[in-house]
Amino acid sequence: MKIYDLHNHLLPSVDDGPGDINESLEIVRISSDQNIEFILATPHRKDVTELHSVAHIKKLTDQINDISLEKGYLTKIKLGMENHIDITLPEDIRTGYALTMNYGPYILLEMPWDEARKEKYIDDVLDEVKEMDLIPVIAHPERMEIFKNDYEYLKELVGRGMLMQLTSSSLYGKFGNEAKVFSHEILKDGFCHIIASDTHMAFGQREQDLIKGFETAKKLIGQEAARELVSDNPRILLNID
Ligand SMILES: [Fe+2]
Repeated sequence: MKIYDLHNHLLPSVDDGPGDINESLEIVRISSDQNIEFILATPHRKDVTELHSVAHIKKLTDQINDISLEKGYLTKIKLGMENHIDITLPEDIRTGYALTMNYGPYILLEMPWDEARKEKYIDDVLDEVKEMDLIPVIAHPERMEIFKNDYEYLKELVGRGMLMQLTSSSLYGKFGNEAKVFSHEILKDGFCHIIASDTHMAFGQREQDLIKGFETAKKLIGQEAARELVSDNPRILLNID
């Protein structure tokens, strides 16, 4: 089974991910050992725009791919972004400041952390993104107040054609019991489309643990259904041949 991790902050010194390239390469080595074929690097758009540039993160991606090829690692890196939802997002997509998943039609979006309720501007931005023929993939809904307070809103978004990404650590309890219970509910109800690691470091609280998430999902929904979430579905979203 080929595995794809579509939410990962491995690029060095860009956001709250690793502080240097050695740690980034350690994440690639660990991912390679776990048989992960592709990682989508998803630095936070805000950090890239305010502190760096898209050219910079492209260069880092190429650099990591070159070194990991030399080292014989299996894992390859493609570029995307974790795009927080705000009113500037549609314009940033048009001007190339916000990136989709590997330049394809899917885009990783993060709900505003400070909004506990559904606000009109959020729906307006989501509609505008969809009108651009892009398909939103919502990051870690199980950790967002907006959905904990209103599960129906999550279901409504899926009904409107959006996809949901659960985080491995939530599934096996590393983000606490509340996130664990809610992630299991989303999973069993069939509202999860991919599982990703949201890795931030080589070792510790937010390390590469996609396999652990897969193993947990397997116990809850069975091997075939779990396989779709780490292999079949993410492969389609990754926009590779
Ligand atoms: Fe993230």
